[in-house]
Amino acid sequence: MFLGLDFGTSSVKGLLIDENQSVIGAASAALTVDRPHLSWSEQAPDDWWAASLDVLDDLAAHHPSEMAAVKAIGLSGQMHGATLLGADDRPLRPCILWNDTRSATQCGELEAREPQFLTLGGNRVMPGFTAPKLQWVRENEPGIFEQISKVLLPKDYIRLKLTGDHVSDMSDSAGTLWLDVAKREWSAPLLAATGLDRNQMPRLVEGSEASGEVRTDLCQRYGWAKSPVVAGGAGDNAASACGIGALPSGAGFVSLGTSGVVFVATERFQPNTKSAVHAFCHAVPNTWHQMGVILSAADSLNWLARLLGAEPTEMVKALGAIKSPSQVAFLPYLGGERTPHNDAEIRGSFAGLSHTAGQIDLTQAVLEGVAFALRDCLGALTSAGSTVAGLTAVGGGSRSDVWLQALATILKVPIFRPSEGDFGASLGAARLAMAAESGSTNGIFSAPPTSRTFEPEVTQVAAYDEAYHRWRALYPALKQVGY
Ligand code: XUL
Repeated sequence: MFLGLDFGTSSVKGLLIDENQSVIGAASAALTVDRPHLSWSEQAPDDWWAASLDVLDDLAAHHPSEMAAVKAIGLSGQMHGATLLGADDRPLRPCILWNDTRSATQCGELEAREPQFLTLGGNRVMPGFTAPKLQWVRENEPGIFEQISKVLLPKDYIRLKLTGDHVSDMSDSAGTLWLDVAKREWSAPLLAATGLDRNQMPRLVEGSEASGEVRTDLCQRYGWAKSPVVAGGAGDNAASACGIGALPSGAGFVSLGTSGVVFVATERFQPNTKSAVHAFCHAVPNTWHQMGVILSAADSLNWLARLLGAEPTEMVKALGAIKSPSQVAFLPYLGGERTPHNDAEIRGSFAGLSHTAGQIDLTQAVLEGVAFALRDCLGALTSAGSTVAGLTAVGGGSRSDVWLQALATILKVPIFRPSEGDFGASLGAARLAMAAESGSTNGIFSAPPTSRTFEPEVTQVAAYDEAYHRWRALYPALKQVGY
């Protein structure tokens, strides 16, 4: 038996699989995000741990003998969060999350001061990443900065609780901006740019390698006679790629989660900093990946649903099949944007509202606006040399037929929906656990069977091309007048 634990922004998920990768059980526990100031986004690390224990307890209650047979655990998690620990390994402040953009000013300063962020680090310094968050703490909370003994990513804080060790994997560590991404090791000059050194970083392993073993007291609690191995694991996007078998170069996915992601595996380190592409390590040795990331995908629909007092799934159902592009346009920049604009200040907009515009029009505009923003991401990846023949859909939004059809037409590539089952980051994490336990990646990372392929709707492609180009012109226009 193998266990995958995924620490998302809105929940912790646990997935128990057997040696054939059949799902034995799943459990989840909800998490909330604190936004104490505009552009801030935080969580208490101990809430993650409490939620993890709830998930483990739930699995143990429903599947006692299978849980007791767990040989290895894989971890996946929301990327980039700055978890700052003092010498006693206690969090010094709430974790500053990936979608917190308070460090926009620090980003420009860091890029100017240390140009190697763009070369060794392979990425623009964006407020989502960990390094600028630390520079913000250094400038604004010097008393806390002085006490930092270790900086951990969210899933690695859970690893510390599980094993007692400070360890991270390559895919998640690349998202700190302190990694030399081609060499897969911490970079002393990049760390020094934010006043840190290697001693404050965790030890590095590959995602498919063992990072340690579960502590004895937890083994007693879950009946583990032999301590399960804990795999390096991965950032949630690389883990999702492991879940759908996107390891060969050119294989990829589109994720409609809280954030939106277009992910493509690459055989070498392939940055494109001009269009704010993310170029990171993959979760298995000698592989890398590129991503375009938008900050609010399903989050945009959830925001509209909250505003209208409606349920997102009901809103999409009420929309029915889309016949032509909406006359209303939506820019999903509720919390700023990463790819391609790298703009923490921009905010979302609706354009083209008329007296008759109602819930259905706004819902369609949101689904299309997110798809247009993901087309921007795909364009940034292809201009960095990736060729994409099709993308597997993952994340909560991928349950919507209408959204996936619109995505296929707007991105102009087939979108594959995996057959029922959980092919997300928690499966990827469980697969990494299998690899760490067996010492080999062979035969583990297969692609799931497809239940439905959404082909671009040829009769709508031209109309959506035109709508996309009008939509694209909105960003510079709004930017110019300060929205
Ligand atoms: C990736 C990113 C998000 C988070 C979401 O760069 O910031 O996809 O990993 O959990």
